[in-house]
Amino acid sequence: MARPVRPYRSVLYIPASKERALEKARTLAADAIIFDLEDAVTVEEKPRARALLVDTLQQGGYAPRAQLVRINGMETEWGESDLSAMMEIAPEAILLPKVESAAQIEAVAARLDAHAACAETAIWAMMETPRCLFTAPEIAAAPRMAGFVMGTNDLAKDLGTRFRADRLPQQWALQTCLAAARAEGIACIDGVYNAFRDADGLRAECEQGRDLGMDGKTVIHPSQIRIANEVFSPTEEEIALARRQIDAYEEACRHGQAVAVVDGKIVENLHVAIARATLAQAEAIETLSKQEAA
Ligand code: COA
Ligand code: MG
Repeated sequence: MARPVRPYRSVLYIPASKERALEKARTLAADAIIFDLEDAVTVEEKPRARALLVDTLQQGGYAPRAQLVRINGMETEWGESDLSAMMEIAPEAILLPKVESAAQIEAVAARLDAHAACAETAIWAMMETPRCLFTAPEIAAAPRMAGFVMGTNDLAKDLGTRFRADRLPQQWALQTCLAAARAEGIACIDGVYNAFRDADGLRAECEQGRDLGMDGKTVIHPSQIRIANEVFSPTEEEIALARRQIDAYEEACRHGQAVAVVDGKIVENLHVAIARATLAQAEAIETLSKQEAA
């Protein structure tokens, strides 16, 4: 299935308890925001953060950025209150932590189905436990599912992996979730890079995520947004090559051929599909930038 065209190059976490960060995000160039009620908010702050987030989202000002609310797990003492509060304001998407089964998604989807205002509310899943790696295909296929967010810190904790710049110990998890997302045509966003002042390390990890097929990177600090946006955008060279491939293939077709050659490499219909997806992605990014500037 096709990759989602909407850009998710940079997906910024904001602790819902931090007024200053919530305010600032209205002007940041992130493609999407995760308003977090879960791990970035202390137990003491949970009720205040929930009320502040309801107020803040009612005030709005975050479009055209995609907006996800990460609630606490439904098995925790805060999950039910979070979900009820969010259903009143019908957010664009609810992000569920530590999802391990399609049944967890179905239960929340049924709640949203019963609330007409939430007809368009999507569900996203944090992929961050060993068990979800074995159920990812069913989770991706569950109702209302629009995307996976890789929870690489929780995965490291539960798998017992250590940090390595090449992320070798997490490759199987990343690729398993990516493949399950692609099979259902939903988004897959890479995990965070913790050393938020290390620009070179972030860039290298973004490049790796892009190579793997990720749609973008979750980020935790405003300074990480520009790098994620850069790495997950098609480059000028990629756009130019895509145009040349499409032209060359169309020319070949006119001569009754199914294969063209560009820069010494074959171009068949599947390469043209990739080229068209690259152009569609570039166009979607340009549209988003214009909306942000307006
Ligand atoms: N979203 C929006 N704005 C943010 C932000 C975020 N995630 N993180 C920092 N900012 C803002 C600060 O409010 C500050 O704004 P100001 O200068 O206008 O007052 C500015 O960016 C600079 O912040 P800085 O002082 O460099 O960061 P810090 O040391 O205060 O905080 C972190 C660093 C990592 C604690 C903070 O960025 C953070 O809480 N990130 C989110 C963590 C999170 O959500 N984790 C859960 C998922 S892993
Ligand atoms: Mg987590």
